[in-house]
Amino acid sequence: MSFKNPLLLLSMTFVFLLTKVNAQEQSPLLFLSGPTLQQLSETTVHINWVTSHSTTSWVEYGQTPALGKTARNSQHGLFDANLPVEKAILTELKPGTRYYYRTVSVEIREYRAYYVEYGDTLYSDIYSFATPHNDLNSFSFLAFNDIHDRPEFIGEVTEREEDFDFVVMLGDIMGHIDHEKDIVSNILAPASQYFATEKPMYYIRGNHEARGPQARKLIDYIEAPEGNFYYSFRYGPVFFIVLDTGEDKPDTNQYYYGLADFDRYREQQGVWLEEVINSKEYNDAKFRILLIHWPVLLREVVAGDEIHRHGRRNAQKHFADLLHNNGVDLQLCGHTHRYEIIKPEEGVSNIYTVVGGGHTGQPNSTYTRVDFNGNELKVSLKHTCGELIEEFVIR
Ligand SMILES: [Fe+2]
Repeated sequence: MSFKNPLLLLSMTFVFLLTKVNAQEQSPLLFLSGPTLQQLSETTVHINWVTSHSTTSWVEYGQTPALGKTARNSQHGLFDANLPVEKAILTELKPGTRYYYRTVSVEIREYRAYYVEYGDTLYSDIYSFATPHNDLNSFSFLAFNDIHDRPEFIGEVTEREEDFDFVVMLGDIMGHIDHEKDIVSNILAPASQYFATEKPMYYIRGNHEARGPQARKLIDYIEAPEGNFYYSFRYGPVFFIVLDTGEDKPDTNQYYYGLADFDRYREQQGVWLEEVINSKEYNDAKFRILLIHWPVLLREVVAGDEIHRHGRRNAQKHFADLLHNNGVDLQLCGHTHRYEIIKPEEGVSNIYTVVGGGHTGQPNSTYTRVDFNGNELKVSLKHTCGELIEEFVIR
C-alpha cells in the first residue's frame, strides 16, 4: 500500500494517534480507596469507596459469604453514578450479627443524554463485619488525633493493636485540604488498607480540616448523620457524643478572609447538645464518652496566645456546663500536641480527659486504647511505639 496523497497519509496518522491515545486512556478501573465501614450501628452501616474512573456502584451482602442481597444508593429517582465517592447504606441489619459483603463498581466510559457506554466491572474482596447490640459486654476501640498528613501512623498503630472493634479519628488527621484526592490518600485509603474494610471508623473534625479550598468537600467522604460533623452514636451500652469545635481563632481573623462562621456554629451545637443530654438514650447509657478535637474543661483556657484561645473559650462557653454536669465519663481529644491525662478535680473537670500527643515523628506522639468490659472502661494512653504511658479505669 502506497500513500501518494500526503493528506490521506496525514489523516490516517491522525486517526492512528487518536486510537492510541484512546487506548491509553482506557486504563484499568482501580480502587483509589477500598471500602471503609462508617457509622456502624445495630441495624445500619455506611460503606464508602473511591474508584479511578467514573462508575455506578452497589454492595452485595448477606449473612454468609454467598451474599445474596444488594444495597444500591439512589437519590431523587436516579441511582448514584458519576460521583466522586461510591456509597451504599445497608439497612435493616440484625443486631449482634456477622455480615459479609463486597463492593461492585461498573465503569461508565461514556455518559450522554441518550447514550451510556459501560466498561469494566471492579469487585472488592469479600469482607465481613459484626453489628453491635445493646447488651454487648465487651468491646475495644482506638483513638488517634493530630496525625497531620502522616497516614503511615494509622498502619503502624492498627497493625500493633490488632484486637479492637473500631477507630475514632479525633481531628487534624490532615493539615489542610487543597485537593479531594488528599482526603482519599490521608483518610479513606489508609483506613481501608489497615482496618476499615471490617472495623468501622468514626470521624471527628479538627480545626485544620476546616482549612483549604476543598475543606467543604470533606463531608462528601465522611459519613455523618444528617450530614453534620456533630452527632451521637451508641455502641453496645455506651453512648458517644461527637462535637465539632471548629476553627481556633476568632471568625474575624485575617487568615479566614471573611469565610468563617464558627461562633454561630458552636452556639447551634450547644442547643443540639442540650437535646441530646435530655434524651432517654443518653440517660439510659452505661457510660458516656465525648469525642472532640480539643479539650473542654471547667477551668479558664490559658493555653496559647489570646488569638488561639478564642475557639476554646467559645466552645467552653457553649459546651462545658452541659458536659461536666450531666454525667459524661470520658473525654477523648487532642489539638495541643502535648499528651496529658486530666482527672476529675473541683473547678477543673468533672470528666476524665485524655489529650492525645503530637503527630508521628514527634517524641510525644500517642494513641489511646479504650476497653469496655461490661462494668468499666479501661483507658490506656500509649506512645506510638506501643509503650504504655498511663492507664486508668472508670467504673
Ligand atoms: Fe488542632
